[in-house]
Amino acid sequence: MAERGNDYHEAPGEVATAPAGCPINHDWSPLDDDYLADPYPIADRLRDEAPIFFAEELGYVVVNRMEDVLEVFTNPDVYASTNVQNPVFPIAPEAAAVLAAPDFDPVAVMSNRPEPDHGRIRVHTRAGFSRRRLRTLEPYIVRRSHELIDEMLAGPQPREFIDAFAFPLPGETVFRFIGFPESDDELLKNWCADRKSFSWGRPTPEEQVEIAEKMLAYWRYCRDFTASKRDDPGDDFASELVAAHLENPDDITYREVESVIYGLSFAGHEAVTNLICNCLLTLLPRRDQWDQLCADPSLIANAVDEVVRFESSQISWRRITTADTTLGGIDIPAGTPIFLNFASANRQPDVFDNPNDFDIHRANAAHNISFGKGIHFCLGANLAKLEARLVLDALTERLPTLRLVEDQPIWSSPNITFRGPEQLLVEW
Ligand code: HEM
Repeated sequence: MAERGNDYHEAPGEVATAPAGCPINHDWSPLDDDYLADPYPIADRLRDEAPIFFAEELGYVVVNRMEDVLEVFTNPDVYASTNVQNPVFPIAPEAAAVLAAPDFDPVAVMSNRPEPDHGRIRVHTRAGFSRRRLRTLEPYIVRRSHELIDEMLAGPQPREFIDAFAFPLPGETVFRFIGFPESDDELLKNWCADRKSFSWGRPTPEEQVEIAEKMLAYWRYCRDFTASKRDDPGDDFASELVAAHLENPDDITYREVESVIYGLSFAGHEAVTNLICNCLLTLLPRRDQWDQLCADPSLIANAVDEVVRFESSQISWRRITTADTTLGGIDIPAGTPIFLNFASANRQPDVFDNPNDFDIHRANAAHNISFGKGIHFCLGANLAKLEARLVLDALTERLPTLRLVEDQPIWSSPNITFRGPEQLLVEW
């Protein structure tokens, strides 16, 4: 593999043991059924019992308090992000064989690339997420939202909302952002589905093979697509990156351009599907707050921040220590995997008043940690929030009577990080 040592997906390392002096939790795992169903009461208890502890089931040191999470995020030299895309559990040999294809060689470029390379590459990716580009996407998001609502209105009720709206919209938006042609949307959506299970869940070997085959097919597509943008550039993110490479190949290599495109569609896809669903899960049952948004759309922006805090589509992230260090009074040796528990930090009572209340008027809702902090702060945060705002604008205008079907089972896919319903029945 080219540029070894910076592979996009590395196999997980040895299972860590508890640091001396660190409290040990022998039975909790973020994959427990009760935690997947509702992590928040358990996350509150974990934070109160021990702000930092070693989770034996996971083999990670778990960091629960906001101030400690912030310290980790803002000290990248000690807390590296190199493990964030790695599978939590070992890759089955059959799946590893698929990814051993000689032409499967994406490199770590953004969330999992250490400095100084990360900073070198981010100059160009950040430029690509300019205000101007987001403004050019806005009419597309509005048009597609209304088209998808038209289709919902023309069909039967109740409707499965993810299939009808929350899955297609973010995928298509990030594909237009990157510059993928609309004719490839269905193919691309299929390849990008289920990726969260590969790195953050515990898929069976058969599932791993299926996902690995899609990853390989998608990587090959990204390589051909990048080549097409080199030959025939357009007004899109991919063409901008290729142009940056051609102008100065040392600034961003060609393989790095291909790898950014490969990583972006996943980053920009399922987390936003979950965000849109989590907006409905939190707002629709609290009818008074939904009605306020219908009456006054200027409240929507803060409501989205409150959804991101209260029911985030990402409730954890990872790091690994590069040196012996001390966090919150606990000594942690080099090489220790760290699990940053957003579910605890986003509901911390000395940071957010009455943290378990959902309140669209909360003044400091935007102080949530769901998009990270520091040098790796989510590049797509503005795009994700813009999409959610435009979707709520459209839904409150067109479907003020929207409601969740009562007593439906709500479940999230079993993984340690991403949270959102797998099915959501709505009527109006
Ligand atoms: C609700 C939706 C989203 C959430 C909750 C979310 C959350 C996050 C988090 C927690 C990080 C890691 C921060 C860190 O390590 O310090 C991150 C990084 C990143 N996100 Fe997002 N994200 C979302 C949507 C998006 C979208 C729509 C895109 C792009 C289209 C995107 C692109 C990225 C990229 C490229 C990075 C890596 C940045 C870097 O390492 O410099 N994200 N995101």
